Amino acid sequence: MTETTGTHAQGPFIAAIDQGTTSSRCIVFDRDGRIVSVDQKEHEQIFPKPGWVEHDAMEIWTNVQEVVAGAVEKAGITAADVKAIGITNQRETTLLWDKNTGQPVYNAIVWQDTRTDALCKELGRNVGQDRFRRETGLPLASYFSGPKVRWLLDNVEGLRERAEAGDILFGTMDSWVIWNLTGGTDGGVHVTDVTNASRTMLMNLRSLDWDERILESMEIPAAVLPEIRSSAEVYGSAKGGALAGVPVASALGDQQAALFGQTCFSEGEAKSTYGTGTFMLMNTGDEPVNSYNGLLTTVGYRIGDQKPVYALEGSIAVTGSLVQWMRDQMGLIKSAAEIETLASSVEDNGGAYFVPAFSGLFAPYWRSDARGVIAGLTRYVTKAHIARAVLEATAWQTREITDAMTKDSGVELTALKVDGGMTSNNLLMQTLSDFLDAPVVRPMVAETTCLGAAYAAGLAVGFWPDTDALRANWRRAAEWTPRMDADTRDREYKSWLKAVERTMGWIEDEE
Ligand SMILES: Nc1ncnc2c1ncn2[C@@H]1O[C@H](COP(=O)(O)OP(=O)(O)OP(=O)(O)O)[C@@H](O)[C@H]1O
Ligand SMILES: [Mg+2]
Repeated sequence: MTETTGTHAQGPFIAAIDQGTTSSRCIVFDRDGRIVSVDQKEHEQIFPKPGWVEHDAMEIWTNVQEVVAGAVEKAGITAADVKAIGITNQRETTLLWDKNTGQPVYNAIVWQDTRTDALCKELGRNVGQDRFRRETGLPLASYFSGPKVRWLLDNVEGLRERAEAGDILFGTMDSWVIWNLTGGTDGGVHVTDVTNASRTMLMNLRSLDWDERILESMEIPAAVLPEIRSSAEVYGSAKGGALAGVPVASALGDQQAALFGQTCFSEGEAKSTYGTGTFMLMNTGDEPVNSYNGLLTTVGYRIGDQKPVYALEGSIAVTGSLVQWMRDQMGLIKSAAEIETLASSVEDNGGAYFVPAFSGLFAPYWRSDARGVIAGLTRYVTKAHIARAVLEATAWQTREITDAMTKDSGVELTALKVDGGMTSNNLLMQTLSDFLDAPVVRPMVAETTCLGAAYAAGLAVGFWPDTDALRANWRRAAEWTPRMDADTRDREYKSWLKAVERTMGWIEDEE
């Protein structure tokens, strides 16, 4: 971390825990929003069958405790120097655990997992994908938590009875971390925040409460559900561990946290985060905006008892994970950063297009029958061209989202605020600017997910007075401007869209 200021930083501090898809990290921030220390640990990705993705929730909790201790130690501080803990997390990933023992009843089912495809079709009845869209802002898709809960209740022996008896708790990773952090079986609080709850498909977007009719349709007993709270308020205090006694004061899904960390507090402000997947969110103010172009309507954040702020979201399932796949499954590169070196060794994609529909296609298509395709292959194509196609895939998928965003919101994109691990890739950022025909800007702290969680927690305990104080911390670190001529862009976009067509309908009969 280049932003690290070492052990000379002036306290007090806020600690943020980011329980992500591939790793858990803890970052300590000072009052200027600067990183004081970071600790991070990866966890195992479990792939039991094609399309299935799981995590060991106990491994995750152990890692969280380790990285909290690690970050505190590296900063050279104690719990007394930390005013609040903020939580952010991979969204939708679903866990059920026994509240008497604290033991998970099954691995966590990860957001990318497609095992509930057939169940989602069934739940659509004669209405189809939009059966619950009015209430939840979401299409029926395997991505969201509700159907995953239903799958667990149907498939883990004896679980439904235990759930109905009140012995089982459901949570996304925010709930799991907060419950454990605040004592677990010894008085842990069972809560979630409005942003995480808005991804379950079980919450009503307007009432911000669980929707009884949907619970009934999905056959999910209300007894398993956490209490829905604001994104910035004190839920309880840490019991034990390196931050014992410190208030736990925020929770936001990772993408909403990044929106917060990028200080997109005004209507029309948007950001795009490039990690395992890519997620663009636009603040739409205090009214939920319906999408007619394949975006999601979701809660952006809610500070204390203020009105909730809503967002439109374009979700892309596979971006950074395609780079990981090139490294781990294909062995074409040794590190994620090497994709840039390899891609830069050629002028263009050599005619190849890579559509990574590994979990079907998310926004704006929402097609679970799609699977990955490399199109346009000739004898001319080398692994360097494929590397280039890998990076272009991320940029084109973003272009599709920004097009939908403009149609739904009426707001023209003037510049895109970006963050996340992939933004260290210069070629990708330049390509993005070229394909969007708009400037791309990255702030000083690219770890906006953690920063957003820290900001929300800091607001909750009065560490920062208001959102204006946070805006003052945002500083531009880099900017890329478009260099591609319009003809090339249009021609390439057409080819991309043709390749997308070819992914569809691959899965014909869901078993
Ligand atoms: N130089 C690079 N070029 C392209 N991709 C990169 C580069 N460096 C990292 N990545 C990709 O970025 C991703 C990591 O970014 P980041 O840490 O922001 O992910 P994340 O989504 O926050 O992780 P998590 O899912 O655990 O929250 C990985 O998928 C990795 O392959
Ligand atoms: Mg992340």
